Amino acid sequence: MPPIRIPRSVRIIGTGITPLNPRSSSQISPTILMQQALRFALDNAGVGLKDLNGLIAVPSLADTHFMEAHYLATQIGMLPGKSKIVRTMDTGGAGPVTGLLEAKRMIMHEGADLVAVVAGDAVKNLSGEEFLKRADQTCNHPEAELKSPVIPSGYDRVAQYQMKNFGITREQLASCSALMSIMASRHPSALTRVPRTIDQILNARHVAPVTSVLECARRADGGAAILLASSNFIEQKGLARDKGVVVIGGGEASGPLFPPKNISDMSEEMFSCEEAAGVAYDEAQVGPRDIDFFGLYDCFPICLIRAVEAVGLAPKGHGGSFIEERYHQIVEGLKKDPNGFKPQDVFPINTHGGLLAFGAPWEVPAMYNIVEAVEQLTHSAGPHRQVRNARRALVYGNGGIFSASAVAILGSGK
Ligand code: CAA
Repeated sequence: MPPIRIPRSVRIIGTGITPLNPRSSSQISPTILMQQALRFALDNAGVGLKDLNGLIAVPSLADTHFMEAHYLATQIGMLPGKSKIVRTMDTGGAGPVTGLLEAKRMIMHEGADLVAVVAGDAVKNLSGEEFLKRADQTCNHPEAELKSPVIPSGYDRVAQYQMKNFGITREQLASCSALMSIMASRHPSALTRVPRTIDQILNARHVAPVTSVLECARRADGGAAILLASSNFIEQKGLARDKGVVVIGGGEASGPLFPPKNISDMSEEMFSCEEAAGVAYDEAQVGPRDIDFFGLYDCFPICLIRAVEAVGLAPKGHGGSFIEERYHQIVEGLKKDPNGFKPQDVFPINTHGGLLAFGAPWEVPAMYNIVEAVEQLTHSAGPHRQVRNARRALVYGNGGIFSASAVAILGSGK
């Protein structure tokens, strides 16, 4: 076997997302959504399926397969084939960012040139009852004593911990969802079209003590894919040298699968985003001030509040007030100047609306953080969402109930 030529850099050269909640029922199996997203990403990059020698997939909840990536590779005709690396990664909702970092390793150390990371799920296509039956099983354990809906209840327990220990308020939690709905209303593909108010959120049906239905990851069907290539591949293919964005750093860390039963037994030990972000900043040799756009996981408000603290945007314990202040600033700004005011000038975070408002097909949504980051860094997000002079982005994926954190730092390739 010839020696592996170490590439100078790894870039995301293509992205693809399917519409959310597609109407045609024949198109909504997770595998079909994955295939469509991959096709869009290949077309976007201007390369073919035969160029692909690495494939990473994250498993779906609606139609789980043993060795999801091998299943997909077989379906699309990538396997059988020589010198292909195919891997399933399961770190829950952190999967797409874990996959991105794994793809970089495959390219830097295993001789792959072009690797796709693919995710797709159709959890909205399941009945509410069936969805909860499956979702409840993922993070439940008798020791945790979480009621159904287990996942919202687990995050709710963490929100209560944060209220007790750091004094965050119910309104601060609700402002996360209100702010995400403003962001989503400015993205043409988002499910949430109309911004919601804090009052609407607080008065909506509660699914746990401090969590209303409008503060849950918005169950959806959809697929997304990204393509990562070595600098050698980009040169050989005659693609523009500054195509896409560069992966400049990454880090991962882990926590337990479920929180303790009692809030008094919870501690900062169980959270891992800060550690993952620290490793990513160190590898990229940058700090929070060098980042122009943040794609932060926000399956529930407490996840976003803790994320702004963990990535260094707000001091510990102040994430709630950080978001609430910016929410009111944006509402005022839009009231005064509906056409000229740009929320992203105040809050360059989740300009697509995140899981709370863009849409959340189970393990897919961190992919939307990555796709939005690529749009920001290639200055193709359009006038409603583009962050001025965006040169570096941080993306964060979270799995389980704060059980896995994966953070990547991306840079514009110019
Ligand atoms: N924004 C706006 N509307 C919302 C909403 C949101 N975030 N969430 C729900 N709604 C509204 C919508 O009107 C929705 O209908 P449409 O989307 O069709 O318009 C309506 O509520 C009903 O929603 P459901 O069909 O989901 O209602 P349900 O009663 O069957 O279930 C629920 C309610 C228990 C809260 C369920 O939605 C739920 O469990 N949501 C959380 C999903 C979840 O846990 N996702 C994973 C998050 S954790 C993670 O991401 C990490 C990981 O590792 C996977």
